[in-house]
Amino acid sequence: MSIKKSNTIKSYEITSESIYLERRKLIKSMSIASTMIPWGMTWSQSSKEDGYISAYKRNSIYSTSEPKNSFEDITTYNNFYEFGMGKSDPYQNSANFEPAPWNVKISGEANKTGVYNIDDLIDSNALEERIYRLRCVEAWSMVIPWIGIPLANIIEKLEPNSKAKYVAFETVYRPNEMPGQRKRILKWPYIEALTMAEAMNPLTLIAVGLYGQDLLNQSGAPMRLVVPWKYGFKSIKSINKIHFQESQPKTSWNMAASNEYGFYANVNPEVDHPRWSQSRERRIGNGFFGAKQPTLMFNGYQDEVAHLYQGMNLRKYF
Ligand code: MTE
Repeated sequence: MSIKKSNTIKSYEITSESIYLERRKLIKSMSIASTMIPWGMTWSQSSKEDGYISAYKRNSIYSTSEPKNSFEDITTYNNFYEFGMGKSDPYQNSANFEPAPWNVKISGEANKTGVYNIDDLIDSNALEERIYRLRCVEAWSMVIPWIGIPLANIIEKLEPNSKAKYVAFETVYRPNEMPGQRKRILKWPYIEALTMAEAMNPLTLIAVGLYGQDLLNQSGAPMRLVVPWKYGFKSIKSINKIHFQESQPKTSWNMAASNEYGFYANVNPEVDHPRWSQSRERRIGNGFFGAKQPTLMFNGYQDEVAHLYQGMNLRKYF
């Protein structure tokens, strides 16, 4: 499949916004009607029709049946240091962030490098809902109904070459809109990376929404990574650069404290953080004093991903 670059004038630049949105809705509904629905999926219609999501398939194969966290939990208790270090800071300080229009720069070891509009990268007919566990390195967790597409779906279109061993991601740098970036909390912009095998794993998602609607700013609008078997800090938000490279990329938390945050960051109850145990976790929503539950190897996704690390010493490559 080929994709077009955004160096041409977008239709919304020459059409009034309401006509543009109507047209998008019509195109989406036409292409949905002609798409086959694979086994294990059911179509859902979203209530919000003017954003990135109009419809999506529910993927029951890759979804946990554990109770979901509430929309309120998921959107008011966040880590997004660009908006501050407190859990409610992203919710309170992100109103001025502009997630549209959105372009993503693709660079490095790939044939289809350049600047793309988000609509050209994310096939809205391929959107799926997947209910994943998110395990934060701080020993709390949530269950979140994401809407997104497999990252592999995007990578295939970009045609990485044989030198592409890793894929690196960068969050937008906009200190005017992101007050946390005016402070030296981390080295900005936030960067993260995966091996190509991790990036191509069918579990790895680029999310554009949750609970049936577009991502709110605090959740990483308009597009963020979701890697459910890794600690939450790998799931980088508000991505506007993707780079393919041969050597292992630097990552924000590893640069900040390399003895505490490894490159792999696979959820592993047997390898403690130097300052606390990783064997148990607190599910957000169960109250601060609610019972902690055991953390699962690879966050419970071992059947899907354990083969990626076969023979590796997971204490060394943490
Ligand atoms: N992405 C950026 N750009 N900045 C951040 O501070 N925090 C990470 C990750 N992605 C972070 C980020 C951490 S530590 C976690 S646990 C998850 O986002 C939290 O995702 P959530 O707020 O959607 O639960």
